[in-house]
Amino acid sequence: MLIAIASDHGGFALKEKIKEYLRQRGDKIVDLGTTSEESVDYPIYGKACAEAVASGKAERGIVCCGTGIGISIAANKVKGIRCGLCTSVEMAELTRKHNNANMLALGGRTTDPDLAIEIVKTFMDTEFEGGRHKRRTDMLDEM
Ligand code: RB5
Repeated sequence: MLIAIASDHGGFALKEKIKEYLRQRGDKIVDLGTTSEESVDYPIYGKACAEAVASGKAERGIVCCGTGIGISIAANKVKGIRCGLCTSVEMAELTRKHNNANMLALGGRTTDPDLAIEIVKTFMDTEFEGGRHKRRTDMLDEM
């Protein structure tokens, strides 16, 4: 799968770890920055990653900031994006099954890196259930 990934400085270290994991799985990655722990503004990176997914350049997106909150807010402002901020494997499973999330947000300062990788694995490997959930995701996409 082709994955767009981006972070601010607070999520940079986690982004690098996730890239390593995705490469091991054989996924292709488009890294939209940032490139170091120098302070930057998370809305720029959340928007860039979301636009890559919304335009179809990438199949899914993963974004990281300190908490995952700011960058998920930025991503969800782009039409067609359903970005789930996840702090557990169960949330990752449900945001795929119920929300058909096309982006995942993680907190580099708030989520243990090994847990974050388990969350990424679940996000990548879980299918959307459709059915009644499709009606609701269609409503989201029309907003
Ligand atoms: C940056 O210091 C921090 O505010 C950012 O990474 C993120 O946590 C915002 O939601």
